[in-house]
Amino acid sequence: MFVAGRRLQSSLLLSSRLGIRCAQAAAAAESSRKPERMKKFSIYRWSPDDNTRPKMQEYNVDLSTCGPMVLDGLIKIKNEIDPTLTFRRSCREGICGSCSMNIGGINTLACLSKIDPDLSKPVKIYPLPHMYVVKDLVVDMNNFYDQYRGIEPYLKRKKDTTIGQEQLHQSVEDRKKLDGLYECILCACCSTSCPSYWWHPDKYLGPAVLMQAYRWMIDSRDEFTQERLEKLDNAFSVYKCHTIMNCTKTCPKGLNPGLAIGEIKKKLATYRS
Ligand code: SF4
Ligand code: F3S
Ligand code: FES
Repeated sequence: MFVAGRRLQSSLLLSSRLGIRCAQAAAAAESSRKPERMKKFSIYRWSPDDNTRPKMQEYNVDLSTCGPMVLDGLIKIKNEIDPTLTFRRSCREGICGSCSMNIGGINTLACLSKIDPDLSKPVKIYPLPHMYVVKDLVVDMNNFYDQYRGIEPYLKRKKDTTIGQEQLHQSVEDRKKLDGLYECILCACCSTSCPSYWWHPDKYLGPAVLMQAYRWMIDSRDEFTQERLEKLDNAFSVYKCHTIMNCTKTCPKGLNPGLAIGEIKKKLATYRS
């Protein structure tokens, strides 16, 4: 009897100590929890499945439990508030080019764009401008990719047999000419910021595609520069660029498609002579 009583007493003591520790841990967690920092996200919404007009929808996101980038905010909204919100993303490193959208009036990548810590101003997010919307922030990129395909963005040699059978050497200087061009991730931020591309997306190739056309023209290993230029020698493909330079201003990778187009124009002016 005496032994059983002692055991009961010590187990009661243990459970009360455990209870105190749990309460202490909860209190510590409570005190270490960061204060809420609520930020408004105002996001363009439209779905072909709803028979309604496009609208802006607002979401409140606690920045103290959110990563620093706009893409983090969008993922948090999708995971915790509204799973129907639709946007493209993949790498979250500024490499894949899929999270391009218009944030605060600027075409950029959501994964490279920091959330403005000023809680009084909402983050306003729209799809890339002047593109057909598939749903919410997802736009139809088919025309853009068709145009890219059209410039044959790959190495072309007169004799195909040389490819794969020998190395095509390139000098350090010639390789250097591709810097500032090959880094393009085809996010289309530049093309969709260009007024000329807004008005003639079917005929004008736009800055992203033209910069890649130039990248292959000046590759010392490519043997089709003349043919590439002939293909662009018309009133629309290149000459609809009026040097507005929105493209270069907005590029989230810091590239200069406006300059590349200027170089193509120079080549077009002289390639026949
Ligand atoms: Fe995007 Fe810049 Fe390439 Fe244009 S040039 S597609 S903005 S990475
Ligand atoms: Fe457009 Fe850039 Fe030319 S914004 S007009 S492509 S320089
Ligand atoms: Fe890949 Fe933003 S998620 S560039």
